Amino acid sequence: MTQYVVRPMQYEDIDAVGEVERECFTTPWPASAYRRELRDNRMGRYIVLAEIIEEDNGPQPIRHRQPPSEPVSGVRRAVGQFLRPFGRPLTGPATIERERVVGFAGMWLMLDEAHVTTIGVKRDLRGLGLGELLFATLLEIAMSIGARRATLEVRVSNHSAQALYRKYGFREEGTRRRYYSDNNEDALIMWSDWLGSPEFQTRYHERRAQLDERLGDLIQVRV
Ligand SMILES: CC(C)(COP(=O)(O)OP(=O)(O)OC[C@H]1O[C@@H](n2cnc3c(N)ncnc32)[C@H](O)[C@@H]1OP(=O)(O)O)[C@@H](O)C(=O)NCCC(=O)NCCS
Repeated sequence: MTQYVVRPMQYEDIDAVGEVERECFTTPWPASAYRRELRDNRMGRYIVLAEIIEEDNGPQPIRHRQPPSEPVSGVRRAVGQFLRPFGRPLTGPATIERERVVGFAGMWLMLDEAHVTTIGVKRDLRGLGLGELLFATLLEIAMSIGARRATLEVRVSNHSAQALYRKYGFREEGTRRRYYSDNNEDALIMWSDWLGSPEFQTRYHERRAQLDERLGDLIQVRV
């Protein structure tokens, strides 16, 4: 069964994030934008969702340490024996773990406001609760640093993303006319309630518990 991890985005993830982005958006961010965000934007918080792939590490060599052919100093010998006791077989792990980035999300934390800037999941993994996991993780980070409200823009035609945001209590509070340059589509501006309010907290924890039950043990969150 596939295991997933949610963790902070690293420089090394940028190419893989770009691939998922191209499945998600008609005008994806270039890699340089992610590099800038990760390097320079102290308000930015970016996370990825990665599939953990366990691979057979192949046949394991069983080698035995040979006695040194030339004399080594006492200290080197002692360190060598500590790291690799004489006569013990040298084997690597039977499996190695690799990761494949399948989703990403980000936001800017500005004073007491969290502005969600991006979120996306690989097309063939949508509808499984993974986008919700990314979104809930952003909200969790925002709450943990004391943000009061969260906001975002979403295409008026993007009903699935809007449904996700509404599920967490976001409401439409305006539009930005012709916000998207590719087709001049309007954006809805959505806002959460005060993140610390009892209503938001109750809803968040209910939804989160349902999500955790749905995803079971498949997920590790390390943000
Ligand atoms: C938006 C997106 C991240 C959702 O990710 P996902 O993994 O497919 O969503 P989930 O399976 O976690 O669904 C969570 C909730 O989102 C809503 N939702 C997701 N897909 C939906 C669909 N096809 N129709 C209606 N609602 C949908 C539902 O409220 C759902 O909750 P439910 O399962 O209780 O019905 C994903 O569709 C995506 O990557 N889209 C392309 C990029 C994009 O549009 N990003 C948003 C920019 S503002």
